[in-house]
Amino acid sequence: MIKKQKILSGLLAILTLCLIYALPANAAHYHDLEKNRQPCSDCHVQHYSEGGGTPSGVETGGPFAELLIRSTTNKLCLFCHDGSDPKAPDVLNPVTMYDGSGDEHSGAGFFNNSGGVTTENGHDLGVDTVSIPFSSMTNISLTCASCHDPHGTANYRNVLTSPAGGTGIAVEPALDVFRDAPPGDPPSASASIAAYKESNLGYKAKSSLWCTECHDGLKTTVNVPGNRVHHFVDIPINGTGYPTDSAHWVAGTGSGFGTATGDLTEGVPRLRFQVSGATDYISSKVIASNNEVICASCHMAHGGKYKKGLVWPYLEPDSPVDANSGCNQCHNF
Ligand code: HEC
Ligand code: HEC
Ligand code: HEC
Ligand code: HEC
Ligand code: HEC
Ligand code: HEC
Repeated sequence: MIKKQKILSGLLAILTLCLIYALPANAAHYHDLEKNRQPCSDCHVQHYSEGGGTPSGVETGGPFAELLIRSTTNKLCLFCHDGSDPKAPDVLNPVTMYDGSGDEHSGAGFFNNSGGVTTENGHDLGVDTVSIPFSSMTNISLTCASCHDPHGTANYRNVLTSPAGGTGIAVEPALDVFRDAPPGDPPSASASIAAYKESNLGYKAKSSLWCTECHDGLKTTVNVPGNRVHHFVDIPINGTGYPTDSAHWVAGTGSGFGTATGDLTEGVPRLRFQVSGATDYISSKVIASNNEVICASCHMAHGGKYKKGLVWPYLEPDSPVDANSGCNQCHNF
């Protein structure tokens, strides 16, 4: 009898521990709203037909998959992230919230449409793409949940550890990516501008490897000197024998450098880079000859104004004055 009780209480203790560890771990990163956690009801409805009709605030025509309040995940997320809610970072063109913030855009840039229409300017939402560049994946239709966990993760920006399945790669805040201003708690319009503008993040590692989870043709094990399919990343500008001008990069003036993209003067703001020895936000922002080039130096994760989601107008047909600016910051031709 005593033995049975011991086993039972042992089991109970284990169960309790599991609960204690499982619940807060999830809750703490929950949409990064910290103490001000977002209620499930912001996104889910339990009894769609309870009142015999459409519940208020919920799209008609339901119930929908996963008991969501919108018919698709993209619609659900864009309901707040389309610029209509000044506290929610706007990810849908046109984006004006960062005007006057000192930055030209957010860390990820923006999608050119809310879904279903192909664009050349970055990732497409809700379009069935048969063949994906530099990827063994086929037939993908991207949603916000292809890259972000709607319920939060320990990763920066709640990105999924395994966007393509498999082991994946965790990109952790305060370890791989640093931030200066935290978001507001509770969220506010001004705190969101400061928290989500591009310069609020500093990079140390793994953000590029994360992109190669889906674009596996660019993995550092595949895209090697003998089989070069793309520009290298995670390498220092001053590596021996590189066709770069690291002194020019450090000086930050002249060819390639400017105050605004798309003004009529050659030069764009300094591109993003990575500091592999960084320990905090400040050290991740120190300009040095061994700063490293990353995917985010050239691309924005969502997309933007220019072809291929590039940060500056490199491929635009009328060859604007800024066409080679990004390249020249490191190469100085
Ligand atoms: C920001 C919006 C949002 C909030 C808030 C939210 N969910 Fe979800 N939830 C989603 C989306 C979107 C999916 C579908 C995921 C997909 O498309 O892959 C989902 C899926 C689910 C699923 C299906 C299984 C799974 O994980 O995919 C469960 C269960 C669930 N949510 C429970 C909850 C509970 C419980 C809460 C509150 C603690 C909550 N959700 C809060 C957006 C949300
Ligand atoms: C292809 C992957 C991908 C898809 C699809 C995607 N995101 Fe992101 N998103 C990212 C990455 C990566 C970042 C972080 C970029 C950085 O700053 O380094 C990010 C950043 C963000 C941010 C922070 C603000 C910003 O603009 O930097 C928000 C909010 C966000 N995403 C929401 C969304 C929503 C809503 C959708 C769907 C409409 C979506 N994302 C679809 C990869 C994606
Ligand atoms: C969930 C898988 C996934 C992840 C993660 C992902 N991509 Fe993609 N990417 C795609 C798919 C699918 C396409 C093809 C459809 C399209 O253009 O959106 C694509 C296309 C692209 C394109 C071509 C866009 C165009 O306009 O032709 C670029 C550039 C790109 N990705 C860069 C990146 C970068 C940089 C990252 C990391 C921030 C990244 N991708 C992360 C799935 C992914
Ligand atoms: C009810 C409104 C609402 C909905 C619906 C919503 N969001 Fe958000 N989201 C916000 C707000 C507000 C913030 C800013 C939070 C802050 O500053 O603390 C935010 C922040 C984010 C961030 C940045 C988190 C960080 O700290 O890095 C991401 C990524 C994001 N949302 C993705 C999504 C995705 C994906 C969906 C759909 C599954 C979604 N959101 C649905 C309101 C919403
Ligand atoms: C030095 C700048 C630079 C870096 C770094 C860079 N790219 Fe690109 N990327 C470009 C340019 C420019 C293009 C347009 C096509 C071209 O010129 O090859 C492009 C095109 C692409 C395309 C679309 C190819 C197509 O055929 O549509 C994908 C996908 C892509 N890049 C993903 C990535 C990923 C993922 C990373 C990081 C692992 C990365 N890029 C790093 C500059 C860069
Ligand atoms: C942030 C710095 C940075 C930027 C921006 C940059 N590069 Fe590079 N680039 C490098 C470094 C470092 C190397 C040396 C490593 C290597 O060979 O990939 C390099 C190498 C090259 C090479 C030589 C490849 C070989 O086979 O040896 C070419 C060509 C090149 N870059 C073109 C470009 C173009 C075009 C752009 C603009 C679209 C660009 N780079 C933007 C840092 C940069």
